[in-house]
Amino acid sequence: MRPHVFVNVAASLDGKISDETRRQIRLSCKEDLERVDKLRASADAIMIGIGTILADNPKLNVKSRELRERRLREGRSENPIKVVVDSRCRIPEDAEVFDGNVIVAISKLAEKERVEKIEKKARIVVFGQEKVDLNSLLGFLYEEGVRRVMVEGGGTLISSLLSHGLVDEAFIYYAPVFIGGASSPTICDGRSFRVPVKTEILSVERLGEGILLHLRFFSK
Ligand SMILES: NC(=O)c1ccc[n+]([C@@H]2O[C@H](COP(=O)([O-])OP(=O)(O)OC[C@H]3O[C@@H](n4cnc5c(N)ncnc54)[C@H](OP(=O)(O)O)[C@@H]3O)[C@@H](O)[C@H]2O)c1
Repeated sequence: MRPHVFVNVAASLDGKISDETRRQIRLSCKEDLERVDKLRASADAIMIGIGTILADNPKLNVKSRELRERRLREGRSENPIKVVVDSRCRIPEDAEVFDGNVIVAISKLAEKERVEKIEKKARIVVFGQEKVDLNSLLGFLYEEGVRRVMVEGGGTLISSLLSHGLVDEAFIYYAPVFIGGASSPTICDGRSFRVPVKTEILSVERLGEGILLHLRFFSK
């Protein structure tokens, strides 16, 4: 068994999620940021790749006080658990994400010295020999009571989850800009899939300045 997994990402019309510098670019409009915050508040866990932690250093907290209070009233934690996928345990000790309940998922590649440092900041779980075994990680999260996982990127993690059939839904916000750049990260990086991953379009709507696409995957 595994939790329900949904991806949320903001992209340019040419599918880029940052530019060649790989630094964070604000693509969401105000309306989209509010939507993302509600989605975060609905999740039990937020999953993110180490590439995004190193590039953007996000906190991943629910921004709206009202939504945090509602979670508390429902007997949930103020913010979802944050899960960082990080084979070699490269996460900096002062990463902003450590403001809360954090799980760092590593593989057997991680050096003991790094693990000992991060163990003081987060719960460490080991799945996989080289890359983190995402199937096992999701199975573990399910056993921990996690039922809804929101994946907030980046493109390498999303690609890996998709190629293993581990995504159920995706929300893609397309901002009305082009970013360009052959090496700019995209919604789905990593290696190309041998067989294209089939989806169903649940809705397409205009949101603020851009377009919100809601997709369903046939993966469970
Ligand atoms: N616009 C948006 O909504 C948005 C959202 C998020 C990120 N971004 C952008 O995306 C970029 C970062 O994306 P990214 O693709 O470089 O990094 P990423 O997807 O955040 O992290 C990928 C890294 O995770 C680790 N990993 C461990 N096990 C894995 C597995 N089984 N499958 C996949 N990855 C695994 C790998 O590093 P190790 O081997 O070292 O563990 C891998 O390189 C930044 O430019 C950021 O600004 C944009």
